[in-house]
Amino acid sequence: MNISKRSSNIKTSPVRKLIPYQEQAIKAGKKVYHFNIGQPDLPTPPEFFEFIANSEERTLKYAHSKGNLGLRQAMSKFYKENFNLDYTDEEILITAGGSEALLFVLTAIFDAGDEILISEPYYANYNSFFEMLQIKVNAFSAKAEDGFHLPPKEEILAKLTPNTKAILLTNPGNPTGTVYTEEELKIIGDIAKENNIYVISDEVYRLLSYDNRIATSMGSFPEYEENTVIIESISKTYSACGARIGAVVSKNKTFMKEVYKLCQSRLSVSSLDMIGAEGLYNTLKKDYFDQNRAIYEKRRDVIYSGLLNIDGVKVVKPEGAFYVMVTLPVDDSEKFAIWLLEHFDYEGETVMLTPAQGFYKTPDAGKKQVRISYCIEEDKIKKALTILEKGLKEYNNL
Ligand SMILES: Cc1ncc(COP(=O)(O)O)c(C=O)c1O
Repeated sequence: MNISKRSSNIKTSPVRKLIPYQEQAIKAGKKVYHFNIGQPDLPTPPEFFEFIANSEERTLKYAHSKGNLGLRQAMSKFYKENFNLDYTDEEILITAGGSEALLFVLTAIFDAGDEILISEPYYANYNSFFEMLQIKVNAFSAKAEDGFHLPPKEEILAKLTPNTKAILLTNPGNPTGTVYTEEELKIIGDIAKENNIYVISDEVYRLLSYDNRIATSMGSFPEYEENTVIIESISKTYSACGARIGAVVSKNKTFMKEVYKLCQSRLSVSSLDMIGAEGLYNTLKKDYFDQNRAIYEKRRDVIYSGLLNIDGVKVVKPEGAFYVMVTLPVDDSEKFAIWLLEHFDYEGETVMLTPAQGFYKTPDAGKKQVRISYCIEEDKIKKALTILEKGLKEYNNL
């Protein structure tokens, strides 16, 4: 029987590709340090569970397709208090994570064959949505030597065509850890406005930016408000990836009406998760975010200085999120990552990396790079770095 091209064209994510090798390594008795997982290891705040336990729901009915009003009001307050953003509850639609928000936003904007403009390297899961919806990707390159910041406006414009319907930004970036400046956001906003296209601003890491840097939201610019769509999620903000709560946020009424229709088609998101999420938004404030940020910033410092000390390794200091892009002294980072799992251990331990090629659209780009995620404790980061260093030495002497 038939399998659609839309589905069969979707590639395995670079994060998941190595799982069989990891399973083999564990079977062989090795301990594996996970430099590959992009999900917070910090506990989900107890408030999430308390609000669910105290809820008076006795029949789990479908919730409103827009999401619970209480949650949307709590998010609206969160935007005002933390980022001075004015989004009313009517400008917020709750989704099953940022992932569903992305799917709905792209579905509402693109017809098959339309084009999206994006900076590479980019979050590889976007490709699955692009394939599903048959969206053509026009990527402009952000270079490691520029800290993965945006190239000049002309380079971005060179990739724009009459079929371009939106620019997708990830700020702070996955896999880059780059936090765009206000000037960069204005360049993107201007391009969108001048060409009457959308800016989809994926801000799921907004609260994680370091060195007293503020990750400015695309929603901060009233002049681009009709063009701007924000992708929100509680996954990283509250260490709650499994809760599956996100949102589409926009002031563009016509666009939001379309997204609402898509929300109605899937009826509702999890009502219990929404209750927990409302509890998080209503109780956890600046102190909680500061505390979390400090933990990741410390880890960022440990990993950055550790990587700088490894021979032949090049690294861009991440400004936010919990990822770092690393150029390794190897020809093919995927082969090396597999070798680490299949053939190498140091005192019975090895490390799992994410080869970076899958984050690029351009063939062969990122072949020497890996993405490292620092969602593990500092002592584990240090051990994993030692293993990486030993592994590189042995690999290059083979
Ligand atoms: C850049 C980016 N956007 C969106 C998501 C989706 O997250 P979720 O669906 O858990 O909200 C992720 C998850 O890692 C991500 O890194």
